[in-house]
Amino acid sequence: MPNNPSSAHSKLSQLIGLGEKIAMLTCYDATFAKLSEAAGVDILLIGDSLGMVLQGADNTLSVTMQDMIYHTRCVAAGAPSTWLIADMPVSSYDNPEQAYTNAKRLIEAGAHMVKLEGGGAMIEIARHLVGHHIPVCAHLGFTPQSVEQLGGYKIQGKTEDSAKRITLDAVAMSNAGVGFVLLEMVPAALAKQITASIATPTIGIGAGPDCSGQVLVLQDLLGIYTGPAHKNPSDFKSPRFVHNFLQGTNSIQAAVSAYVLAVKQKTFPAPQHCY
Ligand code: KIV
Repeated sequence: MPNNPSSAHSKLSQLIGLGEKIAMLTCYDATFAKLSEAAGVDILLIGDSLGMVLQGADNTLSVTMQDMIYHTRCVAAGAPSTWLIADMPVSSYDNPEQAYTNAKRLIEAGAHMVKLEGGGAMIEIARHLVGHHIPVCAHLGFTPQSVEQLGGYKIQGKTEDSAKRITLDAVAMSNAGVGFVLLEMVPAALAKQITASIATPTIGIGAGPDCSGQVLVLQDLLGIYTGPAHKNPSDFKSPRFVHNFLQGTNSIQAAVSAYVLAVKQKTFPAPQHCY
């Protein structure tokens, strides 16, 4: 069955219009795509987190366009009625022309929207893509492709300067016409203030309860990610925003449904998941 962008889009627009919280989850294959669609997930993100959770790497920096195209195709095959966002991997959007060529490849593979990381120079890239009819999600706050420049997995937006920069980037991305602003690992109060000040819906991960929606990495939701392949699981500590939804349920589908319900009912994220 071909993926159906208009039905996926109208479902999503309807729930945004109603002010319902958006439940987004990462996905990398057809089996989990089918299960997640049946469990009521609103958006599936083919995240470059696949570098860690599928490939066993330390971070997302080794993920390629070929990887993203392959996994986007797999997810599109399993979730024909769900809005799909595909990550643009590192070095695939260094200039507007390259970004457009690669974004088009992801859309041809079945994505409805592409996600790119960072503000600043990325605002022009986002504007170029939107101007060429490629829907864009902007990823701000902690941006995993810059993990080395950011000195590790650190909360962003804690100082006045950093909070101001993220806010200005969010406003500029919204003005550039992006469809979503994803905020990762920022104080809940900052995410709340950004969400209130832009018309574009926000999706949070470690960004508190006041975003328009939430996203989690599938393997985190299931409590099965224990760090990079080469490291001892006992040395791994999950980030604060992770919650194991498999605990207390008796199947993977029930765990994914419990996540969707918790987002919709605003019981996730709880204060212990926030910064
Ligand atoms: O790649 C990914 O899974 C992501 C999420 C952490 C939002 O970007």
